[in-house]
Order: sequence, then structure tokens, then C-alpha cells
Amino acid sequence: MTNKNLVVIGTHWGDEGKGKIVDLLTESVTAVVRFQGGHNAGHTLVVEGKKTVLHLIPSGILHPKVRCFIGNGVVLSIPDLLKEIQELEAAGVAVRDRLMISLDCPIIMPYHVALDQSVEQRRGNQKIGTTGRGIGPAYEDKVGRRGIRLRDLLDQEQLIFKLEALLHQHNFMLEQYYGAAPVTLQACLAASYDFLAELRPMMGDVLSTLASYRKTGASVLFEGAQGALLDIDHGTYPFVTSSNTTAGAISSGCGVGPRYLDYILGITKAYTTRVGEGPFPTELKDDVGRHLAEKGHEFGATTGRPRRCGWLDVHALQRVVEMNSLTGLCITKLDVLDGLKEIALCTDYEVDAVGTSTPVYEMMPGWDTPTESVKSFTELPENARAYLARIEALCGIPIDIISTGPDRSETIIKRTLI
Ligand code: IMP
Repeated sequence: MTNKNLVVIGTHWGDEGKGKIVDLLTESVTAVVRFQGGHNAGHTLVVEGKKTVLHLIPSGILHPKVRCFIGNGVVLSIPDLLKEIQELEAAGVAVRDRLMISLDCPIIMPYHVALDQSVEQRRGNQKIGTTGRGIGPAYEDKVGRRGIRLRDLLDQEQLIFKLEALLHQHNFMLEQYYGAAPVTLQACLAASYDFLAELRPMMGDVLSTLASYRKTGASVLFEGAQGALLDIDHGTYPFVTSSNTTAGAISSGCGVGPRYLDYILGITKAYTTRVGEGPFPTELKDDVGRHLAEKGHEFGATTGRPRRCGWLDVHALQRVVEMNSLTGLCITKLDVLDGLKEIALCTDYEVDAVGTSTPVYEMMPGWDTPTESVKSFTELPENARAYLARIEALCGIPIDIISTGPDRSETIIKRTLI
């Protein structure tokens, strides 16, 4: 059976390779929706050897017939959105008539960026390692019920009134507490209101448009950003992002109720990585870790920071299967494990009296025959198949897709999802 509404979620700390899979699955859908996060995300797509990095615009945009939506759960940096649109247009991809942005999106203002950076600096060695893009402070204003939403641009007088109150509060913190430069009203208008004419045709009611798709039986793909272990509630708090990154966020983040989701796909890298600070029990600081980083080109798509690398944390994955009600998994970057003598799977943690987790590993033999670019499951080396089978058994759900290289074509599809 194929599914109508499909969800794609990263299962660890982001960078699992969601962009490529969303792009691939997009061939069969009418629309792709972002429902949380902001331009802290970075989705790298390689199509016919050409690399595109997207931060805000759904990865479906490279398919000319697909409509793309930015739901109300996304915090919006308007200058960054427009820059991304212009870059796509320069590459020959039409965006404006295919993108709808929710009127209810909170806007990231210059004071959010200033606060994000000031807070991180003040934390010193306790820093979170944020992307410095104002994501956290923008969500704080949203939850504080004082944030500026996209619809606020429609009434300039009211916008200025609200902004003045926000500047009063945030500049007090910036100047008096953090010793940073204040932000001007002009800078805020230049990052928002000044683009109204350009944005107006793309602003719309995402909820009702998606409802009309559902009523006509059109398929929609929901594209998660970051990963489940960066979820504000279920992640490795406080080393998390400021949104819910799990499947439950779809309903609040774009207005599609939970009963309308048909298949939830977890994207899992064949090993685990993390950018920024925070716990990472299976991290490898040895030659194997460096090998994974080098072979897997593990540098952040948004900040260019090197990613920390380690063995696949299946123990964490089991919890992620549960919290997202995952239907199946897609394993990416299997080829990066090619040539390793032994591969470890973390199946449990031993937790000491102060709460430090030491991973418990199950060792599996590696494989010599490369999996790189392999396009059929039966052509995978036996030990690679055994590795995948063990992950399936431990998680209790099937691996439906395997990615063996960055290109769209380097993919094994075991089950057609849509
Ligand atoms: P923020 O989302 O900028 O507040 O950063 C909070 C944490 O989430 C940091 O550890 C970031 O490195 C991490 N993070 C945010 N977005 C991504 C992503 O798309 N991939 C991987 N890590 C991310």
C-alpha cells in the first residue's frame, strides 16, 4: 500500500541526510511542508552532481510541479528567505509562485540574532553551540506572546507600536545586561516591513490550503528539520534547539491534525554525528571518529563547523521510534562504513550515580566490498545486510530505504512509500 501523507524526521541530532530523501520522495507528492525550526537547518541536495544547500525553503522546491509551504511553526528570517529565493532563481529554479508562507510565522528580528549571540557569549564554556541565527530568542518571544508575526507587516502603524515595546525590553537586556550594542527600529523595519511588497504574494493561509489538498486526496510530505534528539522536550536538554522537532509538531506547526498522517519515516545515519555542544555517549575521539568525519564530509551545512562523529546509537533510536511513532527507517551514508574491520552498535547505556551514560556495544563484523553507489539490496555485502537487519530487529520497524551515496540515483528503495 502506498501512503498519502508522509513525514520525514531526523532521528538523532540532525544532519542525517533528510534533504536528499525528501527531494527523492517529492517526485510523488503535490506539496512539501516545513513545520518547525528556521534557517538553522541546512539541507544539502546533490542532483546530477550539482550541490544546493537549502535552509528555509522546503527541499521539494527543485521539483517544478511541487508546491512548497512554510508553516506557522517556522521562525522566519525574511532577508535570509529572500536571499535563498534569489539564489534558487539565479540557478533557474522558479520559487515565488510555488511558495506559500503562513501569515502566522514569527519573524526573526535583528534583536533576536544579537540576543542569541550575546547569551552564548555570556555562557562561556557552558554554551549550547547554537547556530547564532536568533532561533531561540525568536521562539521565546513567540511563547511570551509578544512576537511579531508575518501578518503584523500588514499594519505598519501597529507594527511600529509593537516593535517599539520589544526594542525597549530587548535593548535593555542587550545594553544593560550583556553590554552589547542596541538594535534600532530602522534595522528591524529593514529586515521585515521593507520587504512587504515582495513577500505579499507568497503570504497565505497554509492550514486551509493544506486542508483543501487533503480533501482532494493529494499527497503531502512534511519535512522535519534538525533531529529528534534536538527536540526542546525530548532531546538532550538544554543542548537542544528551541522547537519540537518530532512528528507531534506537525499539527501545531502547520495545522494538519495527527489523524491525517499516514507514514512517518525516520532518517538515520549509519553512524551518529552531532554539531555543537552536549552529551553524545557514542562519540569517538579516535582514528575511527576522524575516519568517519573525513569520509562522510562531516561539516555543518549551515555553520561549516566540524561535526562530532561516533557509532550508531540504537538505544537512543529506540526511544525516538516510540516518541515519533515511526513507521519505518531510512539508513543513510551506509557507504561511509565501507572498509571498517568492526562496527559497533550501541544497544544500551550504563548510567553511573551522577548520571553519566557509558554506552554498551554489540560488535558486528565490517565489510570489504564497497556499498558505495549500490542500487539494489541483494548486491549489498552480506555483513552490511546483517548490520541493517540487526538495526531493524532492535528497533522493531523495517528499513525501507538505504542511501549509498549523495546523488538521487544512489538509493535502494525496499518499499515504495508513496
Ligand atoms: P539553534 O537551533 O541555533 O538554537 O542551536 C541549538 C543546537 O541545535 C545547536 O547544538 C546547533 O548546532 C543544533 N542545530 C540546529 N539546527 C541544526 C541542524 O539543522 N542540524 C544539526 N544541528 C542543528
